[in-house]
Amino acid sequence: MSGVDVFLGTQRVIVCCGSGGVGKTTVAAALALSAGRQGRRAVVITIDPARRLADALGRRGELSNEPTLVERIGTGEMWAAMLDVSSTFNDLIGRFAATTEQADLIRSNVFYKSISGSLSGTRDYMAAEMLLRLHEDPRFDLVVLDTAPSRNALDFIESPERLVRFLRHPLFRILTAPSRGGLRVIGATVQPVLKIIGRVVGSNVMSDVIDFLRAFEGMETGFAERAGSVSRLLRANDTTFAIVISPSPEPLNDTGLLVDRLYATRITPSIVFANRLTPLFDEPTTILDASSSNADDGVQMWLDDNVRALRERALRERDLVTSFVDRMTPPPTGAVTTVEIGEQHTDIHDLEGVMRLADSLS
Ligand SMILES: Nc1ncnc2c1ncn2[C@@H]1O[C@H](COP(=O)(O)OP(=O)(O)OP(=O)(O)O)[C@@H](O)[C@H]1O
Ligand SMILES: [Mg+2]
Repeated sequence: MSGVDVFLGTQRVIVCCGSGGVGKTTVAAALALSAGRQGRRAVVITIDPARRLADALGRRGELSNEPTLVERIGTGEMWAAMLDVSSTFNDLIGRFAATTEQADLIRSNVFYKSISGSLSGTRDYMAAEMLLRLHEDPRFDLVVLDTAPSRNALDFIESPERLVRFLRHPLFRILTAPSRGGLRVIGATVQPVLKIIGRVVGSNVMSDVIDFLRAFEGMETGFAERAGSVSRLLRANDTTFAIVISPSPEPLNDTGLLVDRLYATRITPSIVFANRLTPLFDEPTTILDASSSNADDGVQMWLDDNVRALRERALRERDLVTSFVDRMTPPPTGAVTTVEIGEQHTDIHDLEGVMRLADSLS
């Protein structure tokens, strides 16, 4: 069994991270499909607002928050979904509101409507929530998460803690305190802050924010518990962070920073997918005389030169990958599995393409 098969057979969550355009979405889809081939019920979810996952599967416009069955393989299944921030937020409100009136009050709030689908912090937290929800869904035993390019991926990982910090912040408590005379009861220390915020965002918006936070009363416990569960899930033994790279130095530097920040959040990635590698051919063995005037020999020499050039490039790429993996290996545990994926002849824009990529994984 190859290294990747072991991961696919045992893990419950695989998070694919990496720089822009290296193949995170494509690899995430191929991983879910490979897990399906092993008899697992895998769902791949993209939290990137770009619609690449649907494109890669040839299902443009068809993916939503509700997972869609893409392929049944024997007893295994591959499903796919795409994060819809507003509907995840709406569901959460429904779940934690004490009454339907409270849920309706929040959902009709102007501020809520404007942040629920668009604010990046909300997106990050809802992504984390969606991961937890799919993990708890009895239809699936593996969730493969496709993230947005590096920096945003980290925002998503840190979002549960950020939310908890916000809910515990004194300002939040003051703003959500039962309203007796509105803003007048707000202490002298907070008022200047509110004034500044009000000036920046407009005071109408400010009162919408306060109404929204007040309507939130009592729900923060539910949210904080949920955030705690996501945080634990991200660091669980059967959660793997997979780093997807392609062999060019610039993005590799960026990815190195991403890995360092993962360590700083107590997350140790244990598998690297080195994608889009040039195939490694053997050294040509034909021995030809350069002075030959035979046309076939000329063609053969030209081919040999090309094979040599490709081979050199392929070796350089593998050196880059090796030094990247050496640099990221944390001293105590040491084990990082590297999986090489060759450059395919064409872009991957349908299930057949994802299947070909999955073939090259094991
Ligand atoms: N092994 C491969 N061979 C050939 N083309 C590939 C391979 N892997 C990915 N691609 C192509 O590279 C492009 C980028 O891939 P993909 O969208 O999966 O990257 P990404 O890391 O998710 O990008 P983003 O950071 O924009 O989300 C796509 O056109 C895809 O078809
Ligand atoms: Mg992508």
